[in-house]
Order: sequence, then C-alpha cells, then structure tokens
Amino acid sequence: MSDFDVKSFTIPGQYYLDGVLLGSYNPPDGMKALREFDLFEDDCIVAAYPKSGQTWTLELVYLVLHHGTAYERENTARDMRTPWIEWGPVDEERLRNISNIPRPRVFKTHAIAKHLPVQLREKNVKMVFVFRNPKDVAVSYYHFYRMNAVLSRFPGTWSQFYEMFMAGNVAHGSWFDYVQEYWREFKDDKNVLFLYYEDMVKDHAGSVRKIANFLGRNLRDDVVEDIVKRTSFKTMKDNFATRAHKIPFFDENISPFFRKGNVGDWKNHFTVRQNEDFDRVYAEKVAESGFCIDFGE
Ligand code: A3P
Repeated sequence: MSDFDVKSFTIPGQYYLDGVLLGSYNPPDGMKALREFDLFEDDCIVAAYPKSGQTWTLELVYLVLHHGTAYERENTARDMRTPWIEWGPVDEERLRNISNIPRPRVFKTHAIAKHLPVQLREKNVKMVFVFRNPKDVAVSYYHFYRMNAVLSRFPGTWSQFYEMFMAGNVAHGSWFDYVQEYWREFKDDKNVLFLYYEDMVKDHAGSVRKIANFLGRNLRDDVVEDIVKRTSFKTMKDNFATRAHKIPFFDENISPFFRKGNVGDWKNHFTVRQNEDFDRVYAEKVAESGFCIDFGE
C-alpha cells in the first residue's frame, strides 16, 4: 500500500472549466483561443479522450492527406505537423505558427464537445473521434500520469488512480461524460467519423481506407500499404518524427510514451472487484444515455 494521500493530489495550474479538470497545459486563455480558433473548410480535427489512440489517428489522418507531398517529406516533428490547438501558453506567435501549417491542416484537441471551436459546425469542418475500451484507457492513463510532470508524475498506486478515474477526477474529466457528450452531439453528423482503437488494431489497412474515404481521398493500394507500415506501433515508437521523446516533462524511464499499443492490458491491472465495479457503472451510464459500445472483451 502507498501512504500517499490521493486527496491532496493536484496537477500544475489546476482549474475547472464547466466542471472539467484542466491544468496549466490547457490554460483558460488556451481554451478561449480554441473556442475562437479560425478554421478552414478543409481542416480536419482529431478529437479524443486522452490515451485513446489519438497520436496514432493523427498520424493516419496526416498521411492520408499529405502522403507523398513536400510537406510530408520535410519530416517536421509531429507536434507541429498536427498541432494541439489549445496547448498552452497560447500566445499570438504559437497561434500564428499553428495557423500557418500547410493545408489541409490536421489538428488535435482534447476539448469536451461544448468547448470545440465554434466554426467547426459553422464551416462543416470534418472531425475524427477515436474511442477505446475505457478499461485500457484507464490503464494507459495511469502510466501516462506516472511519467508526465505536467500531471505531477502521479506517485500513487493503480488502485488509487482507478478511483480518481472513476470519479472523473482526472485531466479532461470523466471518460463517461466525455464520450457520451460527443456521441450525443455528433452521432448523426456526416462530417464526423467515429473510430474504435480496437477496430484499428484488428484491421489497420481497413482503418486507413475508412479515413481516406471519409476525407474524400482515393488511395492506391501501395499507398495504403505504405501508410500501414509507417504507422505500425513499432515504426511510430522508433521514428523520430512521430515520437514525443523530446518533450522535457516526460520521463520515459518511468513509462514510455509509446508504451504497449495493444488491446486488453487492463487484464493485467484490474482486480476482479474493480472489473465488476466498472461493468456495473458502465451499465448504469448506458441505461441513462442509451450509449453503448461493445469492445469485444
Ligand atoms: P498504451 O499505453 O496502452 O500502450 P494517445 O495517443 O491518445 O495518448 O493514446 C496512447 C495509446 O495509444 C498508448 O497505449 C500507445 O501505446 C498507443 N499507440 C500509439 N501509437 C500506436 C500505434 N501506432 N499502434 C497502436 N497503438 C498505438
């Protein structure tokens, strides 16, 4: 047992926006800049709750849109190829830099549905939303919390983190609220593609085609094959352009950013009781909202 008291745990610059916990890396001015961000009709936003496979999806969307172009060959670090809009501190220079990346632009966001840019709907901008089995999300998030100074390098146990996760007391709030809000808001929207991490693992090439189809791109088979090769877990882990190893607040000796990249690691962490508790809460939430995903555990 850890003697660390989880009640005293905070993250740097912690504050709440509409009941959602955020930190200094998404400061209030960043959230305002996100809401007011100027979009082009051909932009694509990739939204996800943390640890759902967003980095992978960003790379897939980016390669579908830019495969073989000069921009792609420049090998720019991923944070500038597919920038996180609300990343702080959001000053004018950063906003100018991320606004000026070559079109079609691909952006990352972790915003809850109601904090998304106003122009998303106004300009019919396309968005890809990635889901993942929340049990694997919780485990991945636990290891990310341990290695990330922006999240105070969580010193507690898995069980303590599990309690925080279930209470929605983690950065970006409750997984349950987060995905249900997106689902309610966008499930019938033809400009939004919902993807499942588990499906992407099962059928990587099929996911590339699905994204290409959604974005109106007709890719040759050899291009699909190349994208699959370049977005495999191993390639992304080893590839400088997609790795996050230069991020100074990550301690990859504690846990690597590209950690395992598989399905079902929750089975190595959840106790039988936690699993039962999780399934009960999930069933209650589903009964409330009608929203249900079968992750094929
Ligand atoms: P694990 O911690 O379970 O390994 P995000 O990018 O939204 O933060 O999600 C991170 C999760 O996606 C991590 O899960 C990471 O390993 C996994 N991931 C990253 N790139 C991947 C890839 N190319 N293929 C499969 N999983 C990948």
